[in-house]
Amino acid sequence: MSRHETAVLGPRAGPRGDTLERLKIAVVGHVDHGKSTLVGRLFHDTNSLPEGKFEAIKEMCDRRGMPFEWAFLMDAFQAERDQGVTIDTAQIWFHTARRDYVIIDAPGHSEFLKNMITGAAKAEAALLVIDAHEGVRAQSRRHGYLLNLLGIEQVCVVVNKMDAVDYGQARFRAVEDEIGAYLGDIGIVPSAVVPVSARAGDNVALPSARMSWYRGPTMTEALDGFSVPPSPVALPLRMPVQDVYKFDNRRIIAGRIETGRLKRGDRLVFSPSNKSAHVATIEVWNARADEACAGQSIGITLDEQLFVERGELASHAEALPVETNVFRAKIFWLAHEALKAGNRYKLKLATSETPVEVQSVDWVINPETLERIKGETVERHGFAELVLRTRSLLALDDHKNNPRTGRFVLVDGYDIAGGGVISMEGYPDQRALVTVKSTNVSSVAHRVTVETRARHNQHQGGVLWFTGLSGAGKSTIALELEQRLFRKGYQVYVLDGDNLRVGLNANLGFSPEDRAENIRRVGEVAALFAEAGFVVITAFISPYRSDRDRARAAAERQGSGNFHEVYVSASLEVCEKRDPKGLYRKARAGKIDQFTGISAPYEAPEAPELTLPTDALSLEECVEAAIDYLERHFRSG
Ligand code: ADX
Repeated sequence: MSRHETAVLGPRAGPRGDTLERLKIAVVGHVDHGKSTLVGRLFHDTNSLPEGKFEAIKEMCDRRGMPFEWAFLMDAFQAERDQGVTIDTAQIWFHTARRDYVIIDAPGHSEFLKNMITGAAKAEAALLVIDAHEGVRAQSRRHGYLLNLLGIEQVCVVVNKMDAVDYGQARFRAVEDEIGAYLGDIGIVPSAVVPVSARAGDNVALPSARMSWYRGPTMTEALDGFSVPPSPVALPLRMPVQDVYKFDNRRIIAGRIETGRLKRGDRLVFSPSNKSAHVATIEVWNARADEACAGQSIGITLDEQLFVERGELASHAEALPVETNVFRAKIFWLAHEALKAGNRYKLKLATSETPVEVQSVDWVINPETLERIKGETVERHGFAELVLRTRSLLALDDHKNNPRTGRFVLVDGYDIAGGGVISMEGYPDQRALVTVKSTNVSSVAHRVTVETRARHNQHQGGVLWFTGLSGAGKSTIALELEQRLFRKGYQVYVLDGDNLRVGLNANLGFSPEDRAENIRRVGEVAALFAEAGFVVITAFISPYRSDRDRARAAAERQGSGNFHEVYVSASLEVCEKRDPKGLYRKARAGKIDQFTGISAPYEAPEAPELTLPTDALSLEECVEAAIDYLERHFRSG
């Protein structure tokens, strides 16, 4: 095809003006269900093709002796794109009387799914195309599921190729029911299900005389019924730092405001470093501004020199992002190589890039049956729910609170391997745990040293940190152990979950944040006991790995460093059968919220120093094993 021809054949290249509304739509569905034909027809019937383009294709077809196909419009556009002729390679425009539409990525384009999941293309609404004759196929469901994952709620279903089923109402209703039921199950209510023949032009932009039984809107009427979501100015401020430029001694922090707005004089907090300063100036296109909002790329200077880096997230102190090193994610997997628990990738979230490990694959979701199965691996084009862990804290948001900073992609080498959205359900925001509020304090040194105490006691102080499900036997073993060790002459004390929750931690419940704070306090108290020369045995569920790591760090900071993680292990089934306090029964009956193992997570230790499997060993055997371990690690002199 000559350059001249492609230039003539391509659809309109851009929007009509600045004043008209614009809506970004994705056209999804099974590969053979006529998406290209539909888009070709749509451009024609909405008069979105400049004069002569349709005729040019027709003439070309005649010249080459080919029958005319609407899809050729798309092919021509694709060719243009491949040759780099079109300026904006990812977007094509059409219009109705009401507004401009931009189709995010052309159907059939190989990068389509990738662009959807990476957010390179942020669709605000979607057309889901289904062949009337073939009905709902695996890919129709998969694409429906992807829309749901990405939070695209405005969906119009197009039942295409009605000409191939003689415009029959019965067939249409069958497809309508099937897709309606599926979308309903995943929480999407289509605004319309339109019977269409893209080839013949029925109900695309013009009502069909051949389907008088259909009373609903045409496809373009359905599109015009969608609303353009407001730009996310109303959400809390999130400005990921893209770069920091140094001019003379000024530092300009550059980034795009993803959500919210900021004004000169605002105090900003940069997460996760938690540095803070006021906005001195806002620089927009070489000019100064007093204010900027979502969608703008700006530079700011601060009233104090802060060393912040690319990847940090600027926000206001009143509405901070979550800080965590572990979160749940719903992902869509693109890579040929399957995703497995334990695999490592690079996590890209806004402008940050961090090594990440797949802690667990919790559910593999079959988008066709919506069945959730326990699985270890996620194959290409699979959906799954995972837990991801990074080494250091990240700043992020739950996708339901902020879609821009609540999504990420996983990169393997240089390739985008998958993408997903974040859920913090069951996991705490760790910000409070790492925020130091006390100022002007300086520690004093004891004159009775850790060594003196150990010599006096004839054993070292330290922590035996029991972790395990409720009913696993932590308290039972701990109390028995305490008594035996005391008789052997040990300075020993048990810190027990239920006991401390009566006093020191009486103001804490069982929300993820409260549990994390519970364990933070216990970790600090245990470290003090250890420093005082005691063998301290803690009996807490302590469900989060990060919290137990912090308890270990507290012991190290306090000087003892003698910290031993003991996994009191018993399967959920066994614990539930024992149910010593009747709590599992209550939890199953829905009378206790967020019960560990049932409606709240438990992260088993990765490499505990000691495991006491209480479903395989007797109490006596467990206590013996613990004493043996202790005598080897704590006896001195
Ligand atoms: S932790 O998760 O914060 O470490 P902790 O060990 O202090 O828990 O307390 C657990 C004990 O609290 C359980 O043994 C049980 O008796 C009681 N409990 C009450 N509600 C819950 C709940 N929702 N989940 C787990 N334990 C609970």
